[in-house]
Formats: sequence, structure tokens, C-alpha cells
Amino acid sequence: MNTSAGQPAQALVHVNGQLLPRAEATISVFDRGFLFADSVYEVIPVYQGAAFRLRQHLARLDRSLGELAIPNPHSNDEWSELIRELAEANGGGDLSIYLQVTRGAPEWREHWRDAPTQCTVVAFTGGLHPQPASLAEHGVRTILRNDPRWRRCDIKATALLPNVLARREAAAADAFEAIFVRDGYVTEGAAANVFIVSDGLVSTPPLDNTLLPGVTRDAVLDFLRQTGRECIQRPVSRETLLEADEVWLTSSTREILPVTWIDDHPVGAGRPGPVWADAQPGFSNWVREQTGWLPLTDPAQMDRP
Ligand code: PDD
Repeated sequence: MNTSAGQPAQALVHVNGQLLPRAEATISVFDRGFLFADSVYEVIPVYQGAAFRLRQHLARLDRSLGELAIPNPHSNDEWSELIRELAEANGGGDLSIYLQVTRGAPEWREHWRDAPTQCTVVAFTGGLHPQPASLAEHGVRTILRNDPRWRRCDIKATALLPNVLARREAAAADAFEAIFVRDGYVTEGAAANVFIVSDGLVSTPPLDNTLLPGVTRDAVLDFLRQTGRECIQRPVSRETLLEADEVWLTSSTREILPVTWIDDHPVGAGRPGPVWADAQPGFSNWVREQTGWLPLTDPAQMDRP
């Protein structure tokens, strides 16, 4: 499947309060986000001009910043306005917002110095990835790898080198995603959470410091609950993963993807399964019904607390 996010040439980029053409959107070479990956980020889907679960994305951003002791530079309403303006300036419609906050750019490079810096805020738009018709036929291929990452994967930090290298390995194997296993148990994908279906029962690894609390993961749990399907959060061993009838990947830009191969093991019959085929279209509609901006005047439009 096509994995590139199309970016219009005339895209406008937010840099520290200004909307700039992409060629002029620059930050200092001394920025700690660049030098140390001392920064956090969010990717927020926007459907027809309104964001999905903005409140949850902003809560996760605030938590990530707090864990790095970077003061949050904006209130939720300010973030909402910034994101809304950026989406509009880039043509609205269906898109994703990438936003990053770094600890800023001090005068020289030093691992730590107790001097406050003005944080850097960068945001730009990217694509969402509509599911191609071929997905229902073929699903996506994955590889399984030991998870080499640090033990604070609950923070949405931009230090993603292990994820990047795992994706590189996946691409070399003609696969889309790498699924990580730590101490024999599934954590998540390089850029997605993992669900499995065994004997009709959906499960996903419980949240802890080894995986990101995905906003889509949470939304899928809510959606399944609302549609009366049981889903449990429990540790998923490598063996349980390989024996599952279905395996799914969830993320903000891709909704629910069916996995059909893990290395050279077919998942179930090597085709997307019936629980995914049933859940994904309903989930897709449900997501589009629950979008909005903060502050919200109409509580009916409010994304869930
Ligand atoms: N990544 N786990 C990891 C490591 C991720 O990078 C992502 C998303 C997820 C899913 O989280 P959410 O449902 O909140 O998108 C899980 C984004 C899309 C990215 O890095 O581009």
C-alpha cells in the first residue's frame, strides 16, 4: 500500500506563532529538538475541517510535556485555534496535523543546563491515508522484531530512531509495519498499536510504560464496547499473536488496518478477517461523526472527555 503522506507544495507551516511558506519555515540549528530529540509531538486527524478527539490528543501532549518538564506553551483553547487555523490555511478537508514542541534553542549545545529557554512550536499538515480497496483483499504485511526501545514509550517523544530503523527493515522485507515484542510479549508497532482477535474475542496489550497510549486504540475500545463486542486488555505473548485469527494495527492516520502476514506466518487464512471487515467501516463512520474544535459550544459535538 502507498505509505507516503502527500504534502501540497504551497503548504503553510506554523513556526512559533507565524504561518510561513514551507521554504521559509526554519528553526535554529541549536534547537534541542534537532540536537537531542528533546521534544514531543502529536499527530491529530482532521476530517472535513474538524479534529477527532482533540481533547485526548491535547491531554496526551500536556502529559508528554510534563514528563519532560517542558512547560506547555499553550492552553487547550489556544492549541485548538492554532490547529484550526493551520488546517484552514492548508485547504481544510481531510488531513492530519503534525505538531511538535521542543525545549527550545539555547546558545550552545550542552546535554543539560539549568537555564530556561523559550520552547519551539512547529506544526504542519500531512495526509490521512484512506484505505485502498485492495486492503480488504490483501491486508498488510508486517515483521516481528525484539523491542529495543527505552522504557518510557508512554511518552510521545520524537526520539524515534528504533522505530525508524524497524520501519526500514520492514520496507526491506516488503512489509508495511514492524511489530515489537519485549520479553516475549507484544508491545506495539513502530507507529501503531496492536489488537488481536482469537475465537471472536478482541484483545490488546494493557497500557504501561512500554507502549504509547494511542488515541485510536482508546477510540477502538470505546467503539467496540458501544457495538456490544467484548474487548479485553491483556498481555499478548508472541505465540498468541502468531496463533491469532486476526491482527490489527491502529493509528490516527490509518484507523484500523488488518495484518495478514507476520514475517512468513499467515495471520488466520492470510486474508483480512470477518471481525475487522465488520468493525472498520462502522468505526470509520463513527470517527467522522465525533469531531470538533475547542472550546465547544455545542456539547453534542464534543469529542469524549
Ligand atoms: N504514530 N504507537 C506508536 C509508537 C505510534 O507512533 C503511534 C502513532 C501509535 C498510535 O497512536 P494514535 O492512535 O494516537 O495515533 C502507537 C503517529 C501516527 C506517527 O508517529 O505518525
